[in-house]
Amino acid sequence: MEIRIFETCRQACQAAALVMGAQIVSKPDSILGLATGSTPIPAYQELIRLYQEGIVDFSRVRSFNLDEYVGIPEDHPCSYHRFMRDELFDHVNILKENTHVPSGLSRDLEGDALAYDAAIEAAGGLDIQLLGIGRNGHIGFNEPADVFTPQCHVVELTESTIDANKRFFDSADDVPRRAVSLGVGTIMKAATVLLIATGEDKAEAVRLSVKGEITPRVPASILKAHRHVLFFLDQAAASRL
Ligand code: GLP
Repeated sequence: MEIRIFETCRQACQAAALVMGAQIVSKPDSILGLATGSTPIPAYQELIRLYQEGIVDFSRVRSFNLDEYVGIPEDHPCSYHRFMRDELFDHVNILKENTHVPSGLSRDLEGDALAYDAAIEAAGGLDIQLLGIGRNGHIGFNEPADVFTPQCHVVELTESTIDANKRFFDSADDVPRRAVSLGVGTIMKAATVLLIATGEDKAEAVRLSVKGEITPRVPASILKAHRHVLFFLDQAAASRL
């Protein structure tokens, strides 16, 4: 586990964009695992700048997102399909057919989730998986649980996550109760994992993930067992290390 502590959130995200950008420059047909949430937005802005300046070319990149809410349309302002278009895909030259986000609308959610894993496998696996972290230590939507779930699956969201994510919706009642998420097995199979955590409200989750034991009660703690994992933190998120 390599931990880098930056003074500001912006610096942590710019550094993350450099790692993602370097991945694409060194392997133009990279398979990216992408994340949503407010944390990676500055990293996506920096990647867009690197594209606009002709440094990073997304034309051969393929991407697979981590997760999606169940039951909201793809063009809903809070859907992760929409987030990715607004924050990255519409601003770079990635081909739409090369971008993948789990379906939260399928009539066979579990079947589609397994097909999503199979598609990642068929593409050759993830070269790099970008992650944020929930206040309760979740990654993707892998919530604290008694066991780790390896495969892509349907998740019941915890009250902590609904509470944290209600800021994007009109009210807590509007936050979907379920989501589809990559499992920790697929995340752990990525060649590189890059987790960004910024802000004081992530400090305890970061501390438990880095210093605590590996436990499904803190899903991000499993990353300690990954052979190449980077934690890019700002000082606030690193304040309890
Ligand atoms: C959501 C996403 C996660 C994300 C987390 C933290 O629940 N499913 O992938 O890491 O929230 O979000 P934020 O970066 O907005 O704090």
